[in-house]
Amino acid sequence: MNKINRNDLCWCGSGKKYKKCHMEKDMELQKIEQQVGYQIPRELIKTDEEVEGIRKACKLTHDVLDMVAEKIKVGVSTEEINTWVHQYTVEHNGYPAPLGYYGYPKSTCVSINEVVCHGIPNENTILKDGDIVNVDVTCIVDGYYGDASRMFIMGEASEEAKNLVKVSKECLEIGMQQVKPFATVGDIGYAVEQHAKAHGYSVVYEFGGHGIGREFHEEPFVAHVGEKGEGMILLPNMTFTIEPMINLGVPETVILEDEWTALTKDGKLSSQWEHTIRVTEDGFEILT
Ligand code: MF3
Ligand code: CO
Ligand code: CO
Repeated sequence: MNKINRNDLCWCGSGKKYKKCHMEKDMELQKIEQQVGYQIPRELIKTDEEVEGIRKACKLTHDVLDMVAEKIKVGVSTEEINTWVHQYTVEHNGYPAPLGYYGYPKSTCVSINEVVCHGIPNENTILKDGDIVNVDVTCIVDGYYGDASRMFIMGEASEEAKNLVKVSKECLEIGMQQVKPFATVGDIGYAVEQHAKAHGYSVVYEFGGHGIGREFHEEPFVAHVGEKGEGMILLPNMTFTIEPMINLGVPETVILEDEWTALTKDGKLSSQWEHTIRVTEDGFEILT
């Protein structure tokens, strides 16, 4: 393979010479790689053009969730929510990423109470008073992905349920607050885990956040447990999700025979919030 020269056209397709485009950034990256002792795949650092694409997909994802927020109520089936998500997404020139993803049969995930994630919408599951419900939406727009989820409380939920929903949202916020250049994925996990544990909750470790961009799930894996300073270093224009799943009881999960639905092992409540974010020059930007 030939090495790119300073006067060649840049690899990013901008049409500019390498030295006038990505050369300096690439040299910085090489220096950082030497310091940390591992390779950082170049495609994890998005070009400005890619960021614009991801931004669009994330905007639609946000809008879909706003639409769901207006309509969701006691008595609707999870199948109806799926239909709303599917139709709104395609009407706005998007495609629902879950549909057909490794054989997943629906356009969104709806996870109620003890369902940790990947609940499959169906006609027989009807939202009832006191349920806590996660709706997880991922849109593809022009080949780019945006991924987010929110909790919805149906009618009057128990104090226990409401507090879990509140603290899990704080876990996402505290996780995001760790994000800035030269922080690590482990800083996020550590902060999330400490906050959950301070409230007596446990953190699901079998699922995590993920890089996102031209693919649904990219590197790095963003664990919601961990140690400060461990894991991949964060650099400007990395885009990934943080999506802590916080449990009232034990952290372990079991998967149903449908091969998707993940439940808490002890049948106790679980709650999750998710955003897609971008690392900026001095912190983070929520894209969803
Ligand atoms: N949206 C989920 C996530 O946050 C992934 C769902 S995969 C599916 O990563 F196939 F179940 F849709
Ligand atoms: Co995700
Ligand atoms: Co998601």
